Amino acid sequence: MYGELCTKFYDADKQFASTEEIYFYKKLFNNNDLLLEPMCGSGRLLIPLMQAGFTIHGIDNSSEMLKSCKKRASELGLQPILYENAVENIKLPQKYDGIIIPLGSFQLFYPRGDAYHALEKFKEHLKPKGKLVMDLFVPWDALYEHNEEERSEREVKTSSNSVIKINNYSIANKYEQFIISKTKYTEIINDKIVNQEEEQMYVAWYYRYEMELILEKFGFKNIRYEDRFLNKENHMTFIAEVA
Ligand SMILES: C[S@@+](CC[C@H](N)C(=O)[O-])C[C@H]1O[C@@H](n2cnc3c(N)ncnc32)[C@H](O)[C@@H]1O
Repeated sequence: MYGELCTKFYDADKQFASTEEIYFYKKLFNNNDLLLEPMCGSGRLLIPLMQAGFTIHGIDNSSEMLKSCKKRASELGLQPILYENAVENIKLPQKYDGIIIPLGSFQLFYPRGDAYHALEKFKEHLKPKGKLVMDLFVPWDALYEHNEEERSEREVKTSSNSVIKINNYSIANKYEQFIISKTKYTEIINDKIVNQEEEQMYVAWYYRYEMELILEKFGFKNIRYEDRFLNKENHMTFIAEVA
């Protein structure tokens, strides 16, 4: 579950979606459409979409991410409708014209049965002809021989003048198509450690034609595909309608 330090790091590192990313959704939807962003996090995309005139609701199972989303939105005079829940459990009172899941968040469903269950939930919550839009990525580097393990370090400066360092260790299982990623977050103020947090997550990946078949199997049609470069990475964006 995304905790306090992970949220702080995410906000300092990613901030808000670019104008180009927002424009992509403007081409797909109009301002009368009701949108849902499962796994909306702290509103990196949801907030700029609201600013662009969209009505969009969010769901996330991290109270810290949602707290940050509310705070960042209220600083801009916005009050988003957010549901704190795991996507697997949702039963919302309305259906949507669009469900959007940017930047590979769908890949956090693991094992695969959970991903399939999420697709069923999305279908249940879409109006007839409603669109599902998902960005996915493949961790190509992990596919080279002897390159399954990776260690990395990074740091960001936060708005409260602390530094958060992250140490990540990840190991990929190429045949099962998932990565286990272990991250340690350390927050430092004036050379003193003030907070630490550890997090482990699975990241699954899917190839293009595999995902098209999965979408078909779960009742989606008119499946379209686009290559996009988002957040310094290649992504495959799938756009599918409810059958
Ligand atoms: C990488 S962040 C993406 C946030 C946002 N969509 C964006 O584009 O910046 C992934 C989010 O998924 C949420 N999450 C992970 N598993 C979830 C689940 N099963 N149900 C609901 N939210 C989940 C996390 O709490 C986190 O906020």
